[in-house]
Amino acid sequence: MIFTVAIDGPAAAGKGTISRAVAERFGFGHLDTGLLYRAVGAKGGDPVAVARALTPGDLERGDLRTLEAGQAASRVAVIPEVRAALVAFQRKFARREGGAVLDGRDIGTVICPEAEVKLYVTASAEVRAHRRWLEVGGDEARVLAEVIERDRRDAERAVSPLRVAPDAVRLDTSELSIADAVAIACDIVAKRLG
Ligand code: DC
Repeated sequence: MIFTVAIDGPAAAGKGTISRAVAERFGFGHLDTGLLYRAVGAKGGDPVAVARALTPGDLERGDLRTLEAGQAASRVAVIPEVRAALVAFQRKFARREGGAVLDGRDIGTVICPEAEVKLYVTASAEVRAHRRWLEVGGDEARVLAEVIERDRRDAERAVSPLRVAPDAVRLDTSELSIADAVAIACDIVAKRLG
C-alpha cells in the first residue's frame, strides 16, 4: 500500500509529535525532513556539496535539535540547489511501500502534492516559542524572537516557501492538548484509509 501523510507547518507547532504518533498508530514510516536541513547546516562547508553527499549517518548527530542548528537549517534551506539535492530522497520515502508520514514545510505543496492526507499544523508564535523554550531553556524572549525570525525566513524564501496547500486540513494546536491534536489527526487519516 502506498499512502502518504504530509504534515507541514511552522517551527514548534507540534508537527513532530503528531507525525510520530500517526506513524506509530498506523505502522507507517516517519521522516522528519527538518533533520535533513539541520544536518546540512550543522556540517558546515559548502552546503550544496554537503546536501549532495548527505548520508543517513549525518542525521544521527546529537546536536541537531538546538536553536543554532534550527537557524543554520533555515539559512541553508533558502538555497535552491540544496533543496533540489534533497528532493529525490524525500519523494522516495513518501511513496515507500507500507505508508509514510513526512513532516516539514513543503511536503504537501512540493515534495508530495499527491499525498493522500495533508495537514497544516500551526499555533500562535507565542505558544510555539513557549513550547520550544520548555525544551531548550534559556531566555524565553530570545526563543520567541528566533521563532519569529525563522517563520519569516521560511515563508519569504523564493523556493518552496512555507504555504498551506489548498487541499490541506488546517489544525491549530494553540489551545489543543497533544492528545486531542493527535486524536484529530488520526481520525482524518483513518477516514481517508476507509
Ligand atoms: O522543522 P524544523 O524546525 O526541524 O526545520 C528546520 C528548518 O529547516 C526550517 O526552519 C526550514 C527548513 N525546512 C525546510 O525548508 N523544508 C522542510 N521540509 C523542513 C525544514
